Amino acid sequence: MQILGVDIGGSGIKGCVVDTETGQLIGERHRIATPQPATPAAIAHTLKALVEHFNWQGPIGCGFPATIQHGIAKNASNIDKSWIETDAEHLFADVTGQPCHVLNDADAAGMAEMRFGTGKDRKGVIILITVGTGIGTAVFVNGQLLPNTELGHLMLEGMVAEHYCSDAVRKREDLSWGRWGKRFNKYLARLEFLFSPDLFILGGGSAAKLDKFVDRLTTRAPLIPAASLNQAGIIGAALYAANRTHAGQ
Ligand code: BGC
Repeated sequence: MQILGVDIGGSGIKGCVVDTETGQLIGERHRIATPQPATPAAIAHTLKALVEHFNWQGPIGCGFPATIQHGIAKNASNIDKSWIETDAEHLFADVTGQPCHVLNDADAAGMAEMRFGTGKDRKGVIILITVGTGIGTAVFVNGQLLPNTELGHLMLEGMVAEHYCSDAVRKREDLSWGRWGKRFNKYLARLEFLFSPDLFILGGGSAAKLDKFVDRLTTRAPLIPAASLNQAGIIGAALYAANRTHAGQ
């Protein structure tokens, strides 16, 4: 089935039509800068512009950078605080006029990687980590997702982990890949201690730069880049919408 997959991020809102049987993008991806402040009305308006760009009619899947429980945003770290308790699914459906299915952005990326990418056919405990403006996580046990894990908010070195080693922090503090890699390794070590994963999958922009910091990583579990790199969020959002559409939800 074809679905418009959208990845709503702290700095950009990216979308593409996705073939959910193959996980392939159909046509060109389109990106619009995230409006600031990133209020519900402003983001919904940008989503509408994206839908118009694709001249899209049909189901839409949206990965969103917050805990999403039954379509409702429950926290807001890198978006406007007014998102908390906003019913994102209803808002997006009202503004675009199309059925919208919303889930956490890292969960979306994880779903794509487990179905088509690095996690395909792998059993055991797998943690996908997306490193961008914040840090998002998706935890799978034998292919089954535990949604909304929010492990980017673990405390590390006296601060919230994503304030210590997100990609935004690397840029803001002008850290070399080596210095940032040392920080990120501490984060991975904490996750390994708590969850004993069999595999880490790295998504987000830093996945493409793994060779620049891989020598700093010491965890037992291997860390492999996401196969679809930063397209995973778009593909996974579309998959989620396809699942919900098939289930008639
Ligand atoms: C949010 C998560 C999100 C992650 C990546 C964090 O700040 O709390 O929900 O998955 O950023 O966008």
